[in-house]
Amino acid sequence: MTILERYRTLHPKAAKLYDRAREVIPGGITHDIRHLTPFSIYVDRASGVRKWDVDGHEYIDYWMGHGALFLGHCHPAVVKAIQGQVARGTHFGASHELEIRWAELVQQLIPSGEMVRFTMSGTEATHLALRVTRAFTGKSKIVKLHGHFHGWHDGVVAGVHPPFEVPLSAGVPGATLDQVLLCPPNDIKAVETLLERGDVAGVILEPAGGQAGTTPTVSGYLHDLRALTRRHGVVLIFDEVITGFRYAPGGAQAYFNVIPDLTTLAKIVAGGLPGGAVCGRRELMSMIAHRGDPTWDRSERVAHAGTFNANPVSAAAAIATLEICADGALQARANKAGEELRRGLGDAMKRVGLPGAVYGEASIYHVSFEGKPGLAGFDRPRRADLYHLLRCALINEGVDCSLNHGWVSALHTDADLAGTVAAYERAFAAMAAEGTFRAR
Ligand SMILES: Cc1ncc(COP(=O)(O)O)c(C=O)c1O
Repeated sequence: MTILERYRTLHPKAAKLYDRAREVIPGGITHDIRHLTPFSIYVDRASGVRKWDVDGHEYIDYWMGHGALFLGHCHPAVVKAIQGQVARGTHFGASHELEIRWAELVQQLIPSGEMVRFTMSGTEATHLALRVTRAFTGKSKIVKLHGHFHGWHDGVVAGVHPPFEVPLSAGVPGATLDQVLLCPPNDIKAVETLLERGDVAGVILEPAGGQAGTTPTVSGYLHDLRALTRRHGVVLIFDEVITGFRYAPGGAQAYFNVIPDLTTLAKIVAGGLPGGAVCGRRELMSMIAHRGDPTWDRSERVAHAGTFNANPVSAAAAIATLEICADGALQARANKAGEELRRGLGDAMKRVGLPGAVYGEASIYHVSFEGKPGLAGFDRPRRADLYHLLRCALINEGVDCSLNHGWVSALHTDADLAGTVAAYERAFAAMAAEGTFRAR
């Protein structure tokens, strides 16, 4: 049987659900990254580092809620906090003490986090951060790096995938795209040239590298960027939606010891429930505050709303999670597991004789059939068909992850890692056996 024949045979219920889904949901999926050819598995329940699908199969999970579940699925302390809060109220339409405790934890852990405002997603967080940046500086242009992902709102869809002149999405006005100045990653001179124009409000980037570190940031770049932006009076925004609380309790800014002006957070910040945040320097964050001055409040202040911002259930999950993650022990454990897994997967790839590389940092691994990217990242579209096939082959072997990377949680054990390497090796071998990598 081929990989896909086996996949279809193993997942008859998922195939049926997918057919049903396509009738009511465009493409049958609710997040573009869940698109999988021929169809996705349908998950029924999860616990710790494992999940089970409707066809009765068990998986070691490296998707981990798109990286949000650093403590694994259904961590007992998080479940208890959520259950307790649900019974007390899910939305008060009013301020509540949990949001203060949540903000205090972010302030305590994230070095740049003098003040905090909560959103419902990372996309909303980067949207708000750019608005604050523009209002504060009175300038409109934002520098963004090729290959860096900051969510799906119009202001950040430029330059996400090669070819970089084609935005991530249709339907975005040219005038909006024109507000974004693109430059290659790891090229400080390119940023300098753009800042010299004098109309740049801020620079936004994923500090560890675009798309969860797919194109890693080279040593020294962040320090140079910090010095350069400071010299030009330009706001430096670290998008730590992925790295926040994962690389270290203080995120990538603590890990690399470079402190931005603003930081965007989501995923782990809300304890695996919906939520995000912007935090940063007091004078920038104060752009959102009412002052009681009618002119300021009505026309100079940055507006920010959102029905579910800092809802008590997300706040409860977040507090439970951040308290457990605060001392760095779990990040150290996950980072070590990440290192071991990268080594194990790289060795498996070599043993099977596949082209490519396994790399990454902290608790994230990337599998690349195109080898490691250059300083400027992958300059052409990667072969999606290979990664779809790999994911199906892996699912056949009892492992689930994102298309070409995975997130190690604080809970994956040595036995999980060993099982994962063995599963990848079988999946790689199945791909090789099908002649996937023969010259086309
Ligand atoms: C670096 C980065 N920024 C922003 C976002 C958007 O976050 P959300 O999916 O919560 O809108 C993501 C999502 O994966 C991300 O990886």
